Amino acid sequence: MTKYTKTAMLLHWLTALLIISAFWLGVTMVDIHGITPTKLKYFSWHKWIGVTVLGLSCIRLLWRLTHQPPPNPPMPAWQEKAASGLHGLLYVLIFAIPVSGYLYSMAAGIPVIYLGLFELPVVMDPNPELKPLLKEIHYVLNMTLLASFCLHVSAALKHQFIDRDNIFKRIFP
Ligand code: HEM
Repeated sequence: MTKYTKTAMLLHWLTALLIISAFWLGVTMVDIHGITPTKLKYFSWHKWIGVTVLGLSCIRLLWRLTHQPPPNPPMPAWQEKAASGLHGLLYVLIFAIPVSGYLYSMAAGIPVIYLGLFELPVVMDPNPELKPLLKEIHYVLNMTLLASFCLHVSAALKHQFIDRDNIFKRIFP
């Protein structure tokens, strides 16, 4: 086996697309001054996408734990270690970021109405003391994600175009 399965590819690209959209909406919405209909709409979309990422991450983790990924192309041991460390960190972030955002919303006393259809569980009472801390945690985790994402993409590009080990073939259908 030299490629990821179709399910793994779908989960990878769908999660990537949703995370990029949630990130872009996040930085755009916090920059809008005052409370406008657009800002409220972006907040809702941001939360719906973030919750969807959390759901997909659960499915993805289950898939990963029950299916072997294809073996890595030949590379030095330090690169193998760095790659698995970075992949581990990315897995932690795809859970920790939506969870921190969800808890921040709860601490702010704003329930999440998923897709405008039904209310998701209120897991915490409003908490004005925790609110700024959770907001900071959500921000710091996102900046860690940005750095990890850049490293992840740079490593993939280096493999493809400098080492020429055709790594793209493994994750593209
Ligand atoms: C993939 C998941 C997510 C990503 C990538 C993400 C990303 C971001 C980013 C980049 C910001 C802007 C931070 C700043 O510049 O201050 C932000 C803000 C925010 N996020 Fe998320 N987020 C995610 C999930 C969630 C979820 C699930 C919720 C809630 C259900 C949420 C609630 C919020 C809120 C309320 C803010 C505004 C913070 C403020 O008041 O300034 N996020 N998010």
